[in-house]
Amino acid sequence: SLPVPSVQELAKQQPHTVPSRYIIDDMDSFITTVDTDSDDHLLRVPLIDMTKLVNPDSHKEELQKLHSAFKHWGLFQLINHGVPNEILGNIKEEVQNFFDLPLQEKKQSAQKPGSLEGYGQAFVTSEDQKLPWNDMIFLKALPVENKNVNLWPQKPPTFRETLENYSEETRKVAVSLVRFMAMGLEVEAEDICKAYQGGRYEVRMNLYPPCPEPGQVIGISPHADNSGITLLLECGNMPGLQFLKDGKWVTVMPTDDAIVVNIGQISEIMSNGIYKAPDHRAVVNRVKDRMSIVTFCYPDSSINVGPAKELIGSGNPPLYKTLTHSEYLHTFNNRSLDIPFIDLLKI
Ligand code: SIN
Ligand code: FE2
Repeated sequence: SLPVPSVQELAKQQPHTVPSRYIIDDMDSFITTVDTDSDDHLLRVPLIDMTKLVNPDSHKEELQKLHSAFKHWGLFQLINHGVPNEILGNIKEEVQNFFDLPLQEKKQSAQKPGSLEGYGQAFVTSEDQKLPWNDMIFLKALPVENKNVNLWPQKPPTFRETLENYSEETRKVAVSLVRFMAMGLEVEAEDICKAYQGGRYEVRMNLYPPCPEPGQVIGISPHADNSGITLLLECGNMPGLQFLKDGKWVTVMPTDDAIVVNIGQISEIMSNGIYKAPDHRAVVNRVKDRMSIVTFCYPDSSINVGPAKELIGSGNPPLYKTLTHSEYLHTFNNRSLDIPFIDLLKI
């Protein structure tokens, strides 16, 4: 892979046009919507209230809502999730302060060749590959033995502690959500919860600087996540996250204190295709920085990656193979980046 320049540094020079390496040719599918006047595409995604899921009086109705959101959208905004506002505020501020550091400071956490972990950009494999309008820092947070502490920034001085605290909270949210996911699918929940309690939590913090030609570039290209579940914070009320819903790109309107939840391909497989990992992308704007903090949550090796056994039977054949965790990791780590991971498991 080749080193990629910082988009933040590029944007600081306030260019009037975008270098050609960022220009997307097939623009039809990449129309930027966030700085147009019309807002009919700004559909509100389902809103799920964790306290209603927990409360016996409202549980049944909210669980139905959750099941339907997973099934028809693959995503929703979660409110009353139990993560203290202080912890949300701290992580957003910390990520902002990190990106505000001089480039040389950030480079203390620079990616090593061949790895996405650390500060840098998504993989670039050729000179003519289009670049996303995005800088990031990607860190493995849990389990703690997966942490590459060398890549964790020492500045801002509270960054490490704040990210640790936030990751503990995302783990609690993920474990609760997979419990309710299992209930919605009517499959056994305990093993799944345990697998997310010990699971992997990896955090991608994104910066999308202002762009002079936002309709010509992409922040993150369309993809479905390969996680079990993804928890996402949008910072500063700047929209930019879009999901494909019934063939249309829908912008998620940032809601203060809400966590955007989407499922990834591991949950699509687990649900035997009842739930769909949604295609999504990030678009950019001409006005100001946008940041997002994205936690990918994966189960640990105590469960296989495959359809839940309760969902398989006569009339319901498995749509995906079942892999042990080590088979899954092997398949995943050796996959070609051109093929969605889930396609490798399709029967
Ligand atoms: C993504 O998670 O793929 C998009 C992140 C964002 O909303 O910035
Ligand atoms: Fe994603």
